[in-house]
Amino acid sequence: MNVITRERLQIRPLTRHIGAEIRGVDLKQRPDDETIARIYQSWLDHLVLVFPDQDLSQEDLLRVTGYFGEPGHLDRPAKYHPPGFSRVLPGIMLISNIRENGEPIGALPDGEMMFHHDMIHKEVPSKATLLYSVEIPSSGGNTLFASGYAAYEMLDPAIRSKAEGRQALHHYNYGSTQRGDDRGVAAFNECMHPVFRTHEETGRKAVYVNRLMTVKIDGMDARESDTVLNAIFDHAEKPEFVYEHVWRKGDLLLWDNRCSSHARTDFPAQERRLMLRTTVRGTTRPV
Ligand code: OGA
Ligand code: MN
Repeated sequence: MNVITRERLQIRPLTRHIGAEIRGVDLKQRPDDETIARIYQSWLDHLVLVFPDQDLSQEDLLRVTGYFGEPGHLDRPAKYHPPGFSRVLPGIMLISNIRENGEPIGALPDGEMMFHHDMIHKEVPSKATLLYSVEIPSSGGNTLFASGYAAYEMLDPAIRSKAEGRQALHHYNYGSTQRGDDRGVAAFNECMHPVFRTHEETGRKAVYVNRLMTVKIDGMDARESDTVLNAIFDHAEKPEFVYEHVWRKGDLLLWDNRCSSHARTDFPAQERRLMLRTTVRGTTRPV
């Protein structure tokens, strides 16, 4: 049995720097320990894993989340349950634009999102996020993933040396889609982390600032900080460092928030999008 599972696991890189598709594993069943270890290692190698054609219950999703660390709990458990679900289990967040009584049943409901690292505004941000698609629009709503490693390694040395060793301030401001005057005003939480983060498992350095949530490089005047940050964002979001995922129903995605950022493309507001989301808790403060 173990041998069969091991032989069937197929790992196919999706781009040069980020993303791999994993086939030959049905996550409805617990893979053997060696297969889980191989999946974990390929996640460290590829930053984002795509498991197509999965048919997962909420229990399955929570179990799979546990292969990657300690599942995160939620500040605000789901208030509504979507069609076809009698309830939403604790630990699962809905990402959805479906509305009940005019109110979205899930978080991050509408349209485009700029690049970000999940929970970077916290002292110990999430290690990983898993997203499982239940309903997808006919077009758009793609999720883009950028390798922070590749961006760091290929960053202009003049920009890199300005930011090396410094900390940046981040805040939670998902409501705003534009860099504008309300940054810093609409923040729910703020936190400082190194501009370049060393991944605690791989030892590799990654760009650890993003356009959505990073406000300022500490100890720099505002104009210089803006110039340096914008140069890093423009570089880090280049298509050569990005994998764009076009969703199909039943896709499970897993990403590493320590070394990658992600964004979402716009999609038709009148079409439904429903994802189940879990997180894995971080184990250390970023260094
Ligand atoms: C998230 C997120 C992107 C998407 O759940 O953290 O950024 O495609 N989702 O919905
Ligand atoms: Mn996110």
